[in-house]
Amino acid sequence: MVVLKKPWLSLPAGIAYKLSHPLLKLIGLAKSPRTFTWRPFTWRGLQFANPLGISGGLDKNAEYLNAWWALGAGFVEIGTVTPLAQTPNPGKIIARDNKHHAVWNKMGFPNEGVAAVKSRLKQIKRPYHTPLFINIGKNRQTENKNASQDYLHCIRELKPYADAFIVNVSSPNTAGLRDLLTPENLANLLKPLISECAGKVPLLLKLSPDMTDSDFSSALVSSLELGIDGWILTNTTLARDIDLNFSKEGGVSGRPLAARSKELLKLAVQTLGDKRHGKLLISVGGVMTAKDVFERLNLGAQLVQIYSALIFEGPTFFCQVAEEAE
Ligand SMILES: Cc1cc2nc3c(=O)[nH]c(=O)nc-3n(C[C@H](O)[C@H](O)[C@H](O)COP(=O)(O)O)c2cc1C
Repeated sequence: MVVLKKPWLSLPAGIAYKLSHPLLKLIGLAKSPRTFTWRPFTWRGLQFANPLGISGGLDKNAEYLNAWWALGAGFVEIGTVTPLAQTPNPGKIIARDNKHHAVWNKMGFPNEGVAAVKSRLKQIKRPYHTPLFINIGKNRQTENKNASQDYLHCIRELKPYADAFIVNVSSPNTAGLRDLLTPENLANLLKPLISECAGKVPLLLKLSPDMTDSDFSSALVSSLELGIDGWILTNTTLARDIDLNFSKEGGVSGRPLAARSKELLKLAVQTLGDKRHGKLLISVGGVMTAKDVFERLNLGAQLVQIYSALIFEGPTFFCQVAEEAE
């Protein structure tokens, strides 16, 4: 039944992934932007008609903005963008488990690089239809001790086009990247980025679900003290709590990630307390239904993002949620 209603779920994940790109192009060309207004929200002068957006990795090179806007997303995050173009990790990079509504990926930031993304963004008229966030990373050959140079380069080049930046140090698919989440490394990385962005464009930090609760709270508090503007919780997980037919490497997203993502949202709300005033908390990870979206908002997230829900529910997800919100 599922297969008949959602034919792409009967295709291998790699093929469905490749087919989704021309389809998104087509949607962007054929349809006009739509606005679903529910729980409108304003933050630092950015206006969100609704709080449900596209998470990092769905549009790595800013190629499908018109499609996201036509589908009714409340905001869009592009990237992860790195200074230089890079190819995906070798071998299989995406898989899907239809029974558990889980996705596995080992992409490793394949993207066209800052210059290509910049020239694409230059052609898009501002104001954008929704706020546009840019997720940035380091190239895989850049050593961690030089990582801040990569992030700084992305910020300097893309600043005129970004409504906010997201520092991605939480992907499990770039060797050693998550080592940047230790308190000392995080401070060294963030200080120059925060001073580059200060007063101009907000800077958010995307955290990993695989951090211990105490490392997670330390990262929250230390980034808060350094002057970060908000957090995205969470990236994909290396945990395999249920029997999924995925390799040990690579990140899992979708339903199996929901419990940990919610746990960390609650922990963040509790840890930050009043200090989160003026800051932005975005919840992502296992948001698969409209009910899940409202639950994250009720737990204290101001914005919510999806990736896997678009795979399992299809492109009408934004419309479905808007209908249930009314
Ligand atoms: C195929 C794939 C590629 C991804 N690429 C990125 C990426 O480039 N940067 C990033 O920050 N997160 C990336 N993510 C993680 C998502 O943004 C999100 O944090 C994660 O999938 C959890 O959300 P979900 O359960 O709704 O899928 C990727 C996820 C998937 C499934």
